[in-house]
Amino acid sequence: MRIGFFDSGIGGMTVLQQALRILPNEDYIYYADTLHVPYGEKQKEEVREYIFNAVDFMANQGIKALVIACNTATSIVVDDLRKKYNFPILGIEPAVKPAIQSCEGKQIKVLVLATNLTLREEKFHNLVKSIDHHDIVESIPLPGLVQLAESLEFREEKVVPYLKEKLSSFDLKQYGSIVLGCTHFPYFENSIKKIFTEDVNIISGSIGTAKNLKRILEARNQINDGTGDILFFNSSCKVENKETLSNYKKLLVMLDR
Ligand code: SIN
Repeated sequence: MRIGFFDSGIGGMTVLQQALRILPNEDYIYYADTLHVPYGEKQKEEVREYIFNAVDFMANQGIKALVIACNTATSIVVDDLRKKYNFPILGIEPAVKPAIQSCEGKQIKVLVLATNLTLREEKFHNLVKSIDHHDIVESIPLPGLVQLAESLEFREEKVVPYLKEKLSSFDLKQYGSIVLGCTHFPYFENSIKKIFTEDVNIISGSIGTAKNLKRILEARNQINDGTGDILFFNSSCKVENKETLSNYKKLLVMLDR
């Protein structure tokens, strides 16, 4: 059976890429809610409905596990999805804990980059409250990066000016770790690095999620029953088509570079 990967758009590909590295002998189905991306600027109730519809579609294809490869979706519905479906469901959360650990005792701070909806959610506030004992975690929504990714605009000359403008009031030297709290953001790692100090630590949750997936499949004895085949679907066209396939495969090649 296949493993499902779900995102509002192309962000989840950054998590799928990590899964392909450590779980090459699996088959996958990737679903992007292209009709409704971006989620991060919408109301929570609206987004919840989109996610349940998408997961119903994926469940009907027959999946053995589902990765909600979207921080915004994870923060608002992962617990409710687990109540409805009987396959394991994994989410992705901003990797705040390793970021804090890497800054501890160094007089440097952590900056979390995410969507508005993720940063507004109780899940995020509870996470930070439980581990940020020295008040070193700050955050900023960067919805423009989701838009740039969805328009397949990854060029530094377009991305860096946006980042500079959004971060103009921040003292960038004080951050030792940057948390990519949206799965669309790893596409821009090089541009983000350019803005901060040279040795800034950029952390995303995608490797952790891929490792959790492996652990769960091993524990259920449901591992290595595929060949690395991937089916791509999106909500604009729920039938697999050659264009979607080739665009998404190009993204995987780009991420692997
Ligand atoms: C978005 O759709 O706004 C981005 C989703 C995410 O948080 O990964």
